[in-house]
This record gives sequence, structure tokens and C-alpha cells, in this order.
Amino acid sequence: MSIRIAGTGRYIPEKVLTNADLERMVDTNDEWIRTRTGIEERHIAAENETTSDMAYQAGLQAIEAAGITGSDIDLIIVATTTPDYAFPNTATLLQNRFGAKNAFCFDIYTACTGLISSLEIAFALLESRKTYRHALVFGAEKLSCITNWTDRNTCVLFGDGASCVLLEKDDGAEESALLASALHANGQYANILKLPAGGSAMPACQKSIDENLHTIHMEGKETFKLAVGSMVSACEEVIAQAGISPDDIALVIPHQANIRIIQAVAKRLTVPNEKVYCNVAKYGNTSAASIGICFDEAVRAGQIKRGDIVLMTSFGGGLTWGAILIRY
Ligand code: ACO
Repeated sequence: MSIRIAGTGRYIPEKVLTNADLERMVDTNDEWIRTRTGIEERHIAAENETTSDMAYQAGLQAIEAAGITGSDIDLIIVATTTPDYAFPNTATLLQNRFGAKNAFCFDIYTACTGLISSLEIAFALLESRKTYRHALVFGAEKLSCITNWTDRNTCVLFGDGASCVLLEKDDGAEESALLASALHANGQYANILKLPAGGSAMPACQKSIDENLHTIHMEGKETFKLAVGSMVSACEEVIAQAGISPDDIALVIPHQANIRIIQAVAKRLTVPNEKVYCNVAKYGNTSAASIGICFDEAVRAGQIKRGDIVLMTSFGGGLTWGAILIRY
């Protein structure tokens, strides 16, 4: 018995917000955004389009690719920092739309590390639960609704989107698709990347609205420094765990936060740039959605083939970070 990746999907909202558009909103310019982040444009969900709406579209593609139906799904996990509601969880809303009446559902809240955290949990649950055969794992974000559109330090960075990975138990296969994983957290840095209001620490009130505390607050420089070292060490950990060499990896998919972070990670891992997936120019940072969007793009473009080893690594609020090695 093993677990394989049976399908993938992604959804990118229609509306494009370019750097030129941002120049008209805050004191910034295309040159600064491109050279400091690599971002050229990002997509923004429609006002009435929710995180679950976007995830639903990504899920339909994954289900179609795997050739299953809603009633075959046993588990739905949604990684997000922008759920439709605090409760019910986003996964349950999707269960209803997919007609996945047998599925257990929950959301995971590890910011940009969400998709890889959820994948590891899904693999573990499929392994431990005899009756589970199919798991839908989503990374989905409507970051535009927690972005302060008057803060040039953050508003140029983020975008909206959703991705899905469908895992299937395969009685015939011998090796599981998850070759190795390393997940870490350090609450000492909880304050450098946070959404200050809306939880029990600061419920919504006039002050929280007036001071824009329902939006992303980030110490960019500090986050940058910690991101590179953490992702590199997590990648080295999984490469060692699996007993492979970096040359065996067909594609590295890092979280898409900033092209300088992505290039610094690739350099320290001694992986050539052509083996490092990068679409941050088109979508900006879509947090939990980003790795799955890259993965689906690469699969559908034939850049990842069956049997290929893919290294995924991420870093985000918490702080949380990690890496997983997958055989597609
Ligand atoms: N346009 C023009 N100037 C700007 C802008 C902007 N949009 N934003 C900041 N600046 C200015 C700053 O005010 C500063 O000016 P000063 O020197 O006069 O004070 C100057 O540019 C340099 O700012 P820095 O913060 O030093 O810029 P840096 O090179 O560090 O880049 C950035 C900033 C892009 C945010 C970078 O630090 C970064 O990418 N950090 C990591 C972000 C990340 O990885 N987040 C991950 C998780 S996100 C999540 O979990 C939801």
C-alpha cells in the first residue's frame, strides 16, 4: 500500500493588479517592486468571491484529473489564513459543494507553510486510517481582504489564488509519494509577521478598524533573513532523510514570496536556477496557495513527469517553515 498524487488543480482570479496600478494607489514604483521582490503583477479576487469559491474551482480540476467523484473523498484539509469564517471551517463548506458527504474536514492555520503542513498530515491520516482512500488538500487565500492598501511596505507583495492536490491510496504501488518531510515552528518570532486583530487577543472594535489592525503586519527585513536560512536547513534535512543528492531533484518549488529569497535558497542548495520554479512575477505572494499553484502549473506544462522527485519548501507566519520531498 502507498499513497500517490492523483490530481492537481489551481484557480487564479481574473482581475490583474499591476505595479503601474499600485503606483496610482501608494508612493511606490514599478522599478522598486521588480528589483526588491520580482513581482510584476498579482491577481485580486472579486469582492464577492471567497476563499472557498476559489478553492472549489481548483478542487474541480484535481477531481477531474483523478477521475473520482465527490462521494469518493474521505478527507478535506484547507490551508489558509483567510478562511471564509472563523467557523464553520472552509473545508466543511467545500465538502458541501463537492457532495463529499463521507469526508472529515478541517482547516490548517500555518500561513505560507500551510500546504506542505497539510500534505504531511493528509499522508499520515491516509496511512493510519484503513477506510480512507482519497484526500483533497487545498492551499487557498484571499489575502486582498487582509491587506492594508495604504501601506506600501506590504500591499505590493500579496495576491489571491487557490490550489489543490488530491492524494489517493494505491494498493498496487510500493513506495509512497512522500519521501521525506521536515516541519518546524518558532513562536519566539510570533510578532514579526501577524494579523493583530480579529482573534481573542483583540476582537474587532472601533480602534482595530481605525488602526488597520485587521491587516497583515510584517517586519520585512527580519522575515527575509530568517526565511532563507530556515528554508535551506529544512531542505538539507529532507535531502539527508531521503538519502538522495540535490542532483536527483527534478524541480524545487519554493514558496513564492520574493525572487531574492528564492534565488538565495537555490544558490545555497547548489541547485541550478532552471530547476527552481518561479512564478512570483505573475501572482505575487499567495501564501498557502503559492506552492500548489506552482505544482499544478508545472504538472500541466509537463515540467514534472511521473517518477520525478520534487522538493517543496516554505516559510511563513508563526514562524513556521519546512520542506517536503515528493515523488510525483
Ligand atoms: N515602494 C517604494 N519604496 C518602498 C516600498 C515600496 N513598495 N516599500 C518599502 N519601501 C522603502 C522603505 O520605506 C525603505 O525606505 P527607507 O530606507 O527610506 O526607510 C526602503 O524602501 C527599503 O526598505 P526595506 O524594508 O529595507 O526593503 P527590503 O529590501 O528589505 O525589501 C521586502 C522589503 C520586499 C518586504 C523584503 O524585506 C521581503 O521580501 N521580506 C520577506 C517577506 C516574506 O517573505 N514574507 C513571507 C511570509 S508572508 C505571510 O506569511 C503572509
